[in-house]
Amino acid sequence: MPVTPAPVSAPRLAPGPGRGAEELLRQDPEMAGILLAEADRRATGLQLIAAENFTSSAVLAALASPLADKYAEGYPGARHHGGCEVADLAERVATERAKALFGAEHANVQPHSGSAAVLAAYAALLRPGDKVLAMGLREGGHLTHGSPANFSGRWFDFTGYGVHPDTGLIDYDRLRALALAHRPRAIVCGSTSYPRHPDYALFREIADEVDAYLVVDAAHPIGLVAGGAAPTPVPYADVLCATTHKVLRGPRGGMLLCGARLADRVDRAVFPFVQGGALMHAVAAKAVAFGEAATPAFTAYAHQVVANARALAAGLAGEGLAVATGGTDTHLVAADTGPLGLDATAARGRLAAAGIVLDVCGLGRGSARGLRLGTAAVTTQGMGEPEMARVAALMGAALRGAEPAGRLREQVAELTAAFPPYPARD
Ligand SMILES: Cc1ncc(COP(=O)(O)O)c(C=O)c1O
Repeated sequence: MPVTPAPVSAPRLAPGPGRGAEELLRQDPEMAGILLAEADRRATGLQLIAAENFTSSAVLAALASPLADKYAEGYPGARHHGGCEVADLAERVATERAKALFGAEHANVQPHSGSAAVLAAYAALLRPGDKVLAMGLREGGHLTHGSPANFSGRWFDFTGYGVHPDTGLIDYDRLRALALAHRPRAIVCGSTSYPRHPDYALFREIADEVDAYLVVDAAHPIGLVAGGAAPTPVPYADVLCATTHKVLRGPRGGMLLCGARLADRVDRAVFPFVQGGALMHAVAAKAVAFGEAATPAFTAYAHQVVANARALAAGLAGEGLAVATGGTDTHLVAADTGPLGLDATAARGRLAAAGIVLDVCGLGRGSARGLRLGTAAVTTQGMGEPEMARVAALMGAALRGAEPAGRLREQVAELTAAFPPYPARD
């Protein structure tokens, strides 16, 4: 039976304060139509991109607030612009909430993105040409972990460590051997697709052995850490970089945490070294997200994210995919579609045709690539383990070509119609 997408209304376009959505519809119907199409796309498909989520109306309201217009170069109490007294309050609240949420001595909430946070961490600790050890790009390292196409690979001398080809788990013996051989100035712990918890204490031990800084890029797990569903890297990292928009469910952006000893260096690395004026509406929205993440409801959410990822991993294994590391401890699942006779790009295409949106990633075995999925967004929609079993079955059917893509897309829309992303929590 064909499914008609739920009608989209003006408030869903911009749930912030005021009449903004109606005004946009009237003034610029072309762009309003584009934004409504995106709202529909997100609501009617299955959003399994591991780095995405659905923010609350409160976070969106902060993003649409007048702080969007405020220039506030510098830090609270020491700005280069006038009229910053309200912006100062917003940033102080965001910083204090971040420190309390993660038990950190210092927080910088200004980075425009996760990449800007990593750049600032390197700027605080390293000089151009310094040696750095980070997860290899094919094994799940991020662009900022030494890609030749990125500032990191251009300005620093990166060596990649990796995962064991049989287990998919970080090869700590090799990591230690590389650290002893290269004696890097910094070791980066973090990945875009590693589904298990890194052993932060062991990373610290290896970094100490070679007198290296430990930079933890917790862009992915930071939301689980906030909700108590993953171990915290905060006591082990010299500097922790993160995004605020993944499981943490805040606005798109970055942040840095560190001890008091490095606070000044980190702050100066963000402004004025890497960035100019902070995006104060995003800073306010980060504060709102930190406030939400400190609630029991978020703790329950974070644990459900992991339960859902485990259920999805088990379902995909049942459909014949080879799940990396045999499962997951986080929101992330990486899976090889090779056993179904499909490479990752073809698999992603079939799933996209069925309305199932996800990414591909390296699998840590040479150039092998697989699917990368995450359960942050579907869990925000209110889905649980029974729905994950259904999602795995739909994915299996799409990958095997068992049903026409159009029929599968209808079933996906039927499923998501029962779990509308934004009204679910508002
Ligand atoms: C490990 C890691 N570091 C850094 C980033 C960069 O974040 P952004 O896209 O906000 O620059 C990402 C993004 O997914 C990431 O996964």
